[in-house]
Order: sequence, then C-alpha cells, then structure tokens
Amino acid sequence: LSKIEVKLGDIPEGKNMTFKWRGKPLFVRHRTDKEIDIETAVDLSQLRDPQHDKDRVQNPKWVIVLGVCTHLGCVPIANAGEFGGYYCPCHGSHYDASGRIRKGPAPLNLEVPYYEFPDEETVVVG
Ligand code: FES
Repeated sequence: LSKIEVKLGDIPEGKNMTFKWRGKPLFVRHRTDKEIDIETAVDLSQLRDPQHDKDRVQNPKWVIVLGVCTHLGCVPIANAGEFGGYYCPCHGSHYDASGRIRKGPAPLNLEVPYYEFPDEETVVVG
C-alpha cells in the first residue's frame, strides 16, 4: 500500500503509536503542550541537523516521522532517551520530541514523510 490512513482519535496525548508503511515503521506522536513548548523553543545552534520544529510539523500536536534511525536503520524506542523523544538502542542515538537528532552517532533528524490531514481526525501518509 502506498498510502496509510491513521485515525488520530485512537492515539492519546503523550503517546506514540507505530504503524507499518511501505515496509517501514511509521511513528505518529500526539504531543503534549509541554512537549510542544519545549521543542518550539530549542535554539537551532544546538542542533546537528538544524531544523525548526515548525518546519517538521503541520499541526504542532502531531509529529509524523519514519521510525528508522538515521545512523544504521534500527527502530528507535519512543518516550526514551535524554531528550524526551526517541532513543535508538543499537548505538545510542537520542532524538527529541520533534524527531531531531540531539546526541549519539546518527547524522540526521528522523525523516518526515509526505502527509495530509483530510479532516481533524485523520492523517493520510504517502
Ligand atoms: Fe541507531 Fe546506530 S542504528 S544509533
């Protein structure tokens, strides 16, 4: 399947759910207001792959990224690591709650796929 439709109402605030899309894990994360505040305030000069949070999301409540570590492709663990986002246990890469690489060997942020919100309760990825 080239597209996947996800019902956002099934994902509680503060939770990340993993789906399978084009053979890869897809993360859909329902961020808390606190997470949104933290990620929008990050100073880009601290980032290895500098990207503002607003350039990674369409709606700040929802982070949609591929669950593929940009180091060697392991699947990171949600709500783990030192930056409150994702932690890749293979070689210790820490991502924030925007999916940006913050510490460890991975060179790039988690990839944001193409997606649309056809209505407030649905996201279509692909
Ligand atoms: Fe994730 Fe190496 S594959 S840190």
